[in-house]
Amino acid sequence: MVKNICCIGAGYVGGPSCAVIAYKCHDIKITIVDLNQARIDAWNSDVLPIYEPGLDEIVFARRGKNLFFTTEVDQAIIDADMIFVSVNTPTKKAGMGAGMAADLAYIENATRRIAQVATSSKIVIEKSTVPCRTAQSMRTVLEANSSGGIRFDILSNPEFLAEGTAIKDLTNPDRVLIGCLQTPEGFAAQQKLVSIYTNWIPKERVITMNLWSSELSKLAANALLAQRISSINALSAICEATGADVDEVAYACGTDSRIGPKFLKASVGFGGSCFQKDILNLVYLSEQLYLPEVAAYWKSVVTMNEYQKQRFTHRIVRTLFNTVTFKRIALLGFAFKKDTGDTRESAAITLCSYLIQERAHVAVYDPKVGAKQIRMDLTEPGV
Ligand code: NAI
Repeated sequence: MVKNICCIGAGYVGGPSCAVIAYKCHDIKITIVDLNQARIDAWNSDVLPIYEPGLDEIVFARRGKNLFFTTEVDQAIIDADMIFVSVNTPTKKAGMGAGMAADLAYIENATRRIAQVATSSKIVIEKSTVPCRTAQSMRTVLEANSSGGIRFDILSNPEFLAEGTAIKDLTNPDRVLIGCLQTPEGFAAQQKLVSIYTNWIPKERVITMNLWSSELSKLAANALLAQRISSINALSAICEATGADVDEVAYACGTDSRIGPKFLKASVGFGGSCFQKDILNLVYLSEQLYLPEVAAYWKSVVTMNEYQKQRFTHRIVRTLFNTVTFKRIALLGFAFKKDTGDTRESAAITLCSYLIQERAHVAVYDPKVGAKQIRMDLTEPGV
């Protein structure tokens, strides 16, 4: 029986996903750790570091009972039977694969820390989104650094929550994926995690598979979702040129049960910390596997997204008599979508930067994003 869980990374995934486990399983002690003291302090305060509908109630109900937030990483690792690794995996900024591959440094550091301080066997769960076969590297690090007599079993349990609906997605998910090595020990570890989720999720929605399928499924799901957005956005360009209405076209297509209505809303383009990163990750993986046609196919989803953002701004400028110089333009909403305060890769950043380059006066308001964050996003190198 798992009695003690540690989650490394108190971010948008680690925080809500493990808070929900604490909320649903009162007899399991959950400790969420992070190196970022300010973030942990916020988790322990009245104003949580992330905005997510329904999150406050869950955290306030279990905090100090079976849910704890701390920067004492080593102690939490030592005490845990099971460790979720929910650290960030951003796109690499420099070196091999820069601009495409996932930066696995945070995963590796967390894994090394587990190996160095663990004094008993652990189930280590890859929760972060990672390229296919990262679990293999984690296993190598753990086995090479651990002292005798300690066993590490690795599981892949990618997270499918969407920001803005995270609590709903976590309490009533379409599915949970758990990948394991196809060995008796792997299956045993997998069953322990299955039995945690089945405390509140119907058994048929907890899908088990091998490690590599589970890792790849997460990248595949995000690529397919983003592809639909780029597809409808590409059609929106044709609609604008022909006088067709993209909402009518989307409705007509979405009523076909083979297509379905979701993710068919034309927009200024997708944002967020995941879609672009995960597709580029898939592109890099395809290139590494000598599959250039596959890489080009998925790359075009990102290219179309960039084109849509640019096209949107050009249209604003054209509509305002081809100049926005010194015109005051209000931007309502700065987060990458509604019901979140997360601005990572928000289309609003690109939009603002284009408008500012055109010398417009841009006034931004978002009820969930402070002025400091907006300024920081707009003064990032490259924006
Ligand atoms: P985040 O940046 O909000 O949180 C990651 C946290 O990990 C940070 O607070 C960081 O300080 C901490 N951290 C990094 N290295 C550490 C270490 N060695 N020890 C302790 N703490 C450490 O990232 P987010 O959004 O939670 O994403 C985490 C992973 O989940 C990523 O791989 C992401 O792709 C994936 N994911 C994110 C989703 C989202 O909606 N944000 C949805 C599904 C998956």
